[in-house]
Amino acid sequence: MTGFGNHFATEAIPGALPIGRNSPQRPPFGLYAEQLSGTAFTMARAENRRSWLYRLRPSANHGAFTLALDPAGNRTLPASPNRLRWDPRPIPDASTSFHDSIMPILWNGDPEALTGVTLSTYAATQSMGNQAFFSADGEMLIIPEHGRLHIVTEMGLIDLEPLEIAIIPRGVRYRVELPDGAARGYVTENHGAPFRLPDLGPIGSNGLANPRDFESPAAWFEDRDEPFELIQKFGGKLWTTQLAHSPFDVVAWHGNLAPVKYDLRHFNTIGTVSFDHPDPSIFTVLTSPSDTPGRANADFVIFPPRWMVAEDTFRPPWFHRNLMSEAMGLITGAYDAKAGGFAPGGLSLHNMMNAHGPDAASWRAATEAELKPHKIDGTMAFMVESCWPYRVTDWAMARAQSDYDTAWDGFPKAVLP
Ligand SMILES: [Fe+2]
Repeated sequence: MTGFGNHFATEAIPGALPIGRNSPQRPPFGLYAEQLSGTAFTMARAENRRSWLYRLRPSANHGAFTLALDPAGNRTLPASPNRLRWDPRPIPDASTSFHDSIMPILWNGDPEALTGVTLSTYAATQSMGNQAFFSADGEMLIIPEHGRLHIVTEMGLIDLEPLEIAIIPRGVRYRVELPDGAARGYVTENHGAPFRLPDLGPIGSNGLANPRDFESPAAWFEDRDEPFELIQKFGGKLWTTQLAHSPFDVVAWHGNLAPVKYDLRHFNTIGTVSFDHPDPSIFTVLTSPSDTPGRANADFVIFPPRWMVAEDTFRPPWFHRNLMSEAMGLITGAYDAKAGGFAPGGLSLHNMMNAHGPDAASWRAATEAELKPHKIDGTMAFMVESCWPYRVTDWAMARAQSDYDTAWDGFPKAVLP
C-alpha cells in the first residue's frame, strides 16, 4: 500500500475488517476494536491521523509497568557550543538486540511538552525475542547504515535495508529481527508533531520525496499464547511489563496512521542549474513542524547522489552559522564537505550559531577545481536539523572525537591588495 498519510484498509483474514462502521456491537470473529490516535481528536482533517485496529485481545489487557534500568539515560551535561563528531560504533561481540543496543547520543526538547528529538545509534547482533517495544514519547525514524532489519509491527511487516528508512508511529508496538546478523544505524525519536512531507511551493506538484513511494504494510498477526515482555518509553524512561501473549495480534486495521518505509534512492533531488546553490532545505525528505510556521522541530534531510553543474560557484556546502542545530550521519560513501574523519555510521553535531563548513582540504580542492559537470555518486548522508539546540548524553560525550576542531585548521589568510 503506498502513499504518505493515505487511508488504508487491510485484513489478514477475509472478513475481519468491519465495513461501514468503526466499532460495531460485535466485530467479526469476536475481535476487539481499538482506536489508535496519532494526533489530538480535534486536529484539522488534513493533520488528523488515527487508525482502527481489530485484534485478538484488547491492548489494555496488561499489568502495571515497572521502571527499568536505563544505563544510556544519563543526561547531566549542560548544552555545549562545541562542534563534536563521533566515529562509528563498533559492532559488539556480545549478543545484543536492536532495542538493547539503542544508545541516545543527542537530545533536545521535552517529550512531556511534545517538543524535540532524540538521536540514537544502534549496533545489534541478535533479533529481539519475545519482546515488543513502543515509544509513548515519539515516532521512531529508523535509518539503517549496515545490515537489514525485519521489523514486526502491530500493523504489519517491514523489511528494511540501508538506503531505506522506516517510521514507526508513536505508540505502535514493534520488534526488530536481524536477517543478516549484525546491524547498525540510527534512530531519530521525534517528540514533536508527526513527520510529514514538506510543502513544495514554487517547485510545484512533484519533486523531493513523492507520496507514492512511501509504503505501508498489510495487516499481519501472530497467535502466540506465550510470555512476552512489553517495553515502553514514557517520559524519557523505560518501563516494562509482562504479557501472556503476543501483542502482535492485529488481524485487520484501517486508517491513516501507519508505519511507513521509504527508499531514499527514490528522492527526486533538485538543485541549481546556473550558479550558487539553494539552502539545504531543498533536500528535505520529511519535516516535523514546530508551532512557529517555517521553523521545524525537526527536518530529516538527505544529501544523495546528484550532479553538480553550477558555474562560478563554490560547490560544497559553504561556511555557515545557523540558527538551526544540525546533527549529521552518513549511511554510505563520503560527504562532500569533509576529506576524512566522518565515516559511515559516524555522527557530527553543529549546534546553533556555531561556525562550520568544509575542512581545509575540501575547501582547497573545491576552490581550485575546474568546474565541469561532476556527479557526486555512491553517497548518502543525512541531517536531522532542529530549531532546539542539541544536548549530548554523558555516554556520547565520553566517546566524542577529541580533535574535531582541527578540521578547520590550516586555512590561508585572505590577501588584500
Ligand atoms: Fe551545516
